[in-house]
Amino acid sequence: MAAQTDLASKFPSDFFFGVATAAYQIEGAAREDGRGPSIWDAFSRMPGRVHGGDTGDVACDHYHRWEEDLDLIVSLGVTAYRFSIAWPRILPNGRGAINEAGLAFYDRLLDGLAARGIEAFPTLYHWDLPLMLAGDGGWTARSTADAFADYAALVVRRLGDRFTALATINEPWCVCHLSHLYGIHAPGEKNFDAFAAAVHVLNLAHGKAVQAARAERADLPLGTVLNLHSVYPKSNTPSDRAAALRAFKFHNGLYLDPLFKGAYDEEVLEAFGEKLKIEDGDLEIISQPLDWWGLNYYTPMRVRHDPANSATYPHAETLAPDLTMEVTDIGWEIEAKGLGDLMRDVYAAYDLPPVYITENGACFNDEPVDGVVADDRRIAYLEKHFEVVADAASAGIPLKGYFLWSLMDNFEWAEGYTMRFGIVHVDYATQTRTVKASGAWYRDLVASHQAAA
Ligand code: NOJ
Repeated sequence: MAAQTDLASKFPSDFFFGVATAAYQIEGAAREDGRGPSIWDAFSRMPGRVHGGDTGDVACDHYHRWEEDLDLIVSLGVTAYRFSIAWPRILPNGRGAINEAGLAFYDRLLDGLAARGIEAFPTLYHWDLPLMLAGDGGWTARSTADAFADYAALVVRRLGDRFTALATINEPWCVCHLSHLYGIHAPGEKNFDAFAAAVHVLNLAHGKAVQAARAERADLPLGTVLNLHSVYPKSNTPSDRAAALRAFKFHNGLYLDPLFKGAYDEEVLEAFGEKLKIEDGDLEIISQPLDWWGLNYYTPMRVRHDPANSATYPHAETLAPDLTMEVTDIGWEIEAKGLGDLMRDVYAAYDLPPVYITENGACFNDEPVDGVVADDRRIAYLEKHFEVVADAASAGIPLKGYFLWSLMDNFEWAEGYTMRFGIVHVDYATQTRTVKASGAWYRDLVASHQAAA
């Protein structure tokens, strides 16, 4: 506990410590109470798409066990919960008919959070696009941005009185790159034109949702959640360094530039050409001021010059971690410094509002032994990253809080249930939750912070 006291004392007294989850990853109850199908319901049923053929049909059964899960959050002592709202529960077809039973679930959840004194930080879109909208082109179709804005207005009108802050979209990089270019996430496309269209539609959807939410509730703090990459050149040669700068633009700039500068980068415009399908007025919609933004950080990116790679990031190749690097069980390099460098770089380059670390955490697949999950590697990871967050706050980055990914083990997308990020272990056969050593460590950190406040 002594180490936690020192660490806790480095955070501002009003700093939020929270935990995070997402609807499709924990809720289950995929066909209950009028929920419509999402692209992940369909994708996870396609052979070979998700490890072991896993689906989110049951997941952590949170839809039925939400009270137990909120009590679990209370037992960890954290005061903020980041979760997502499932669009297909509220609007089973993506637009049109409202499913009151879906709204009622989040009503119960929000009341349950308020009763327990936990602040609610919902996200409107964490990848479970209503399947009906995929028929119209999904995120490659401008009509999806309009449907998203209508959904945002409805959610804010009906539930927004109990939100501490609202995020529009989780990780546009994953929604565009992983889903439409690399084919790893739903809908599993590998198509550069579709990818480019999705980038702009998603940015537009964010802007339209901000407008719609503000029209309903002007005082609701609005933000978005970006998984930016800290990009390092493989070597110090000019060509590798130039490749790293390009990769930064094509990974991070695609979202940061339109949102916070009101324009795409020249090099991006050149590479994407007409494929972005920008219309007059779009960039004004996209670049409205935000009250906050969220940063998800897990691992850095290393790149080298590659003249053969011309499509996605001109002449830059991203490198897999080499064997000398310390990695988590999902194979991601551990480099806490990347989080600090990234915050410093983006605050230097952009005029940004305050930030929450909306996700950070590690995949380690430790199992219970005699009822104890000794996930010391996760504690070591968290310690390093918390030190960096504390240093960034001391250096003047306007950091408001941190949400640990994740409250509990859950459906890790294409990896299914094999990869565990929770500070609470879930036995999927029995749905037993067991707080891991890292959960106890986090509880002590939060308690130390509260004691000092
Ligand atoms: C980011 C995503 O938002 C979340 O859904 C995912 O589980 C974690 N990263 C870990 O990959």
